[in-house]
Amino acid sequence: MFVLGFESSCDETSAAVLEINRDGREQIIRSNVIASQIDIHSLYGGVVPEIASRAHVEAISSVTRRALEEAGVKPSDIGLVAVTAYPGLIGALLVGVNFAKSLAFANRIPLVGVDHLKAHIAAAYIGAPEIQPPFLGLIVSGGHTVLFRAEDYYSFEQIGSTRDDAIGESFDKVARVMGMPYPGGAKLDLLATKGDPHAFAFPSPALAGDTLDFSFSGIKTAALNALHHARQTGQAVRYEDLAASYVHTAVEAIRSKAEKALKQTGAGQLVVAGGVAANSHLRASLSGMCKKLGVELFMPALSLCGDNAAMVASAGYYAFRAGESAGTELNASASDGDW
Ligand code: KG4
Ligand code: ZN
Repeated sequence: MFVLGFESSCDETSAAVLEINRDGREQIIRSNVIASQIDIHSLYGGVVPEIASRAHVEAISSVTRRALEEAGVKPSDIGLVAVTAYPGLIGALLVGVNFAKSLAFANRIPLVGVDHLKAHIAAAYIGAPEIQPPFLGLIVSGGHTVLFRAEDYYSFEQIGSTRDDAIGESFDKVARVMGMPYPGGAKLDLLATKGDPHAFAFPSPALAGDTLDFSFSGIKTAALNALHHARQTGQAVRYEDLAASYVHTAVEAIRSKAEKALKQTGAGQLVVAGGVAANSHLRASLSGMCKKLGVELFMPALSLCGDNAAMVASAGYYAFRAGESAGTELNASASDGDW
């Protein structure tokens, strides 16, 4: 079966054709075209919603045409259309949802609306048929930091999350104040490899006690204060040290709550996804922890960690298989779905 996926929830316009065989155990990416708007938004230091919507409108037809051409398929070969319907920027989401709806109904193809967070996790299903629910999941992205129990491939129960800022958002903010262009997460990752992780003592984003929740506002404010204070008093800050301490403290918080959740749930598999799953320090820390605990760790290929439509197609396949489908009433929503 060929699934045509669409993603337009933030600053990436993407269309992909995913070939799915053997009941989902074989998933082959036939195409995954991504038109990034990062260059436009970096001029403003972050995503400008109105500009994002317009850029999606301009890109979506040609991105779709290329995805079909690269895959060597026609609309009549497609068995399912899957589109990110929530959460995200409402104007941006609407472009993908309306385009997918028109394409599906004009060609009489079944349609399904997909949860963007579940799609990030589904990126890990591509190439890893060993993943078998129930498992423990972790989403670390620009907008979310969530721990959950997956009852099935598309049915999740949240057990922990950030109470304020997301980890990626906090990385981007600190990187921006250090003068790095948006989004600075990947550059902060690189800088952190060259510094001393114990140079600065930052407050842990792992909330104390039994909870599996996080708070990233304290560490973010502490880092910004350290930078501002140094500037005002004319002291030099080694950016490598600040980056290393920041990333180390954030990663250690994620590791400790993930370990607690693994012990609480008794899960034998951990699936980690989202843009921040590309972080080299996080990947190293979680693989060390999983090895120690005898837990299998799955993370998408680096190329599938950021927003892309192949992950939406994979999630859509499982949503459809679980009985979900949408009609012309399908709408976009800025808010998180009900898990
Ligand atoms: O999942 P994603 O592409 O978009 C959302 O759905 O939010 O995540 C984007 C986030 C940004 O905050 C970006 O800075 C961060 O992922 N990111 C990283 C790395 N690569 C991307 N953060 C830390 N280390 C990285 N290597
Ligand atoms: Zn995302």
